Amino acid sequence: MNKPRILSGVQPTGNLHLGNYLGAIRSWVEQQQHYDNFFCVVDLHAITVPHNPQTLAQDTLTIAALYLACGIDLQYSTIFVQSHVSAHSELAWLLNCVTPLNWLERMIQFKEKAIKQGENVSVGLLDYPVLMAADILLYDADKVPVGEDQKQHLELTRDIVIRINDKFGREDAPVLKLPEPLIRKEGARVMSLADGTKKMSKSDESELSRINLLDPPEVIQKKIKKCKTDPQRGLWFDDPDRPECHNLLTLYTLLSNQTKEAVAKECAEMGWGQFKPLLTETAIAALEPIQAKYGEILADRGELDRIIQAGNAKASHTAHQTLTRVREALGFLPDPHQPQ
Ligand code: TYM
Repeated sequence: MNKPRILSGVQPTGNLHLGNYLGAIRSWVEQQQHYDNFFCVVDLHAITVPHNPQTLAQDTLTIAALYLACGIDLQYSTIFVQSHVSAHSELAWLLNCVTPLNWLERMIQFKEKAIKQGENVSVGLLDYPVLMAADILLYDADKVPVGEDQKQHLELTRDIVIRINDKFGREDAPVLKLPEPLIRKEGARVMSLADGTKKMSKSDESELSRINLLDPPEVIQKKIKKCKTDPQRGLWFDDPDRPECHNLLTLYTLLSNQTKEAVAKECAEMGWGQFKPLLTETAIAALEPIQAKYGEILADRGELDRIIQAGNAKASHTAHQTLTRVREALGFLPDPHQPQ
């Protein structure tokens, strides 16, 4: 029996942080043997806000290398670059033409990012979720493992599928597969180190708000030393008046691979002076093997290029089959040059 299919991706915008890792990539790694996985570096999404053309290519390679360093195994998973598979842009256009504008204007992430852009909001930023839907639907993905912040985009993807199938499919032959989000219980929303009510984010101006996967030990130590806490003694989870405490305990739980109950017990009597060095040591130890593997992967650039090329070829084959199916359903004249 064929394994269910997974698709997910990360944007090559700056460095990956603990939110990206604990909310998404670690789940990909943990479950990969149960699925047929496609993981893309979504470089087309990275240009929906002003970007630096000098660093885009290198950032794309960095993310691909980090996927491998975090434990993505090519035996189970395909790694590829979104812009190298032209079907992503093409399907996005077809989906654009059936997606009502007001569905996109409602998207929370669009509104948040648009506020930051002021006058310079691009059409691409508004269209971001349609391209994301194309990413997912091209692979007939059954499940999409993401952090909590992507839930609304997944709901939109499902709405687009229902609309396309309704307009252009038959009941016994839907055009597109309906995917489901896979959002983990703990770690799906890692919060900023500077403010426990705000999401940890690559676009936060303060470097002190996040721990990046490639931060050296002394930087991790500094960030945890300076992170926001409160004057209480004793540490516990789930107190709405102590968002930083909940977030830091959750980070410790996930990075030390313990249960919430065990951590609640271990830390119940601790003060911050005792907890912070413990979290620092745990974060450094958890990231050390990823950083070591990342160094090895980058040292063999040729091999990384080969992995990406092989991934692109495999992804392209699958994606073009779906694109052909959608083109047919929409009634286009068949393109004799299109791979079938
Ligand atoms: P990106 O690069 O912004 O985020 C990558 C993944 O990290 C998760 N994430 C978090 N999880 C927990 N806590 C946080 N503070 C945190 N910040 C980010 C995101 O939810 C995401 O899973 N739109 C996607 C990229 C994308 C994609 C796709 C994902 C494009 N096409 C198709 C899945 C399927 C994004 O948010 O990238």
